[in-house]
Amino acid sequence: MQVRYFQGKDVTEVYDIACTSLRENYNPTIFLELSPFWREGFIVIEEMGQIVGFVFGIMVSRVEARVLMLAVRNGLRGKGLGRFLMTQFVHECTKKGVKVISLEVRESNLSAKRFYDKLGFSTAGKIEKYYSDGENGIAMQLFL
Ligand SMILES: CC(C)(COP(=O)(O)OP(=O)(O)OC[C@H]1O[C@@H](n2cnc3c(N)ncnc32)[C@H](O)[C@@H]1OP(=O)(O)O)[C@@H](O)C(=O)NCCC(=O)NCCS
Repeated sequence: MQVRYFQGKDVTEVYDIACTSLRENYNPTIFLELSPFWREGFIVIEEMGQIVGFVFGIMVSRVEARVLMLAVRNGLRGKGLGRFLMTQFVHECTKKGVKVISLEVRESNLSAKRFYDKLGFSTAGKIEKYYSDGENGIAMQLFL
């Protein structure tokens, strides 16, 4: 298993994991357009030459990072890969002087909510109709 920063050649596999794991319609260009702004905020796990999970975050202020996407390939969940990705992400945030990591999770996505609870995130509030299909978002934060 190798953990490393995203590279342009990963876009097809990352896009595939995003489409099969997350209920949003993404344009694959988002990865290539946003990743150069903070290379260290886009981390992938590669196993036997295949991407099996990724976390994609951006800096939204000098002290705040936002997780845009996190997903582990279906069939490989529950083995610690998600925690490992977030630990790497937190490490990159610490190096950069980030004080708070924020993210949103679908109200119905109880497994992801529990996952973030376990990692020490706290609920910051509800965002009505945050998602494109009208579902509410739960805002979560981790203070470093
Ligand atoms: C959320 C996700 C990234 C978690 O990754 P993962 O590799 O399955 O999680 P891990 O195995 O690292 O679990 C870490 C901790 O969270 C807990 N956890 C993970 N999934 C859980 C679930 N469904 N219910 C309760 N707890 C859960 C684990 O018990 C573990 O705790 P422990 O280390 O104390 O045992 C993964 O389930 C996923 O890709 N889901 C689909 C995409 C998604 O919803 N992304 C988040 C959108 S905001």
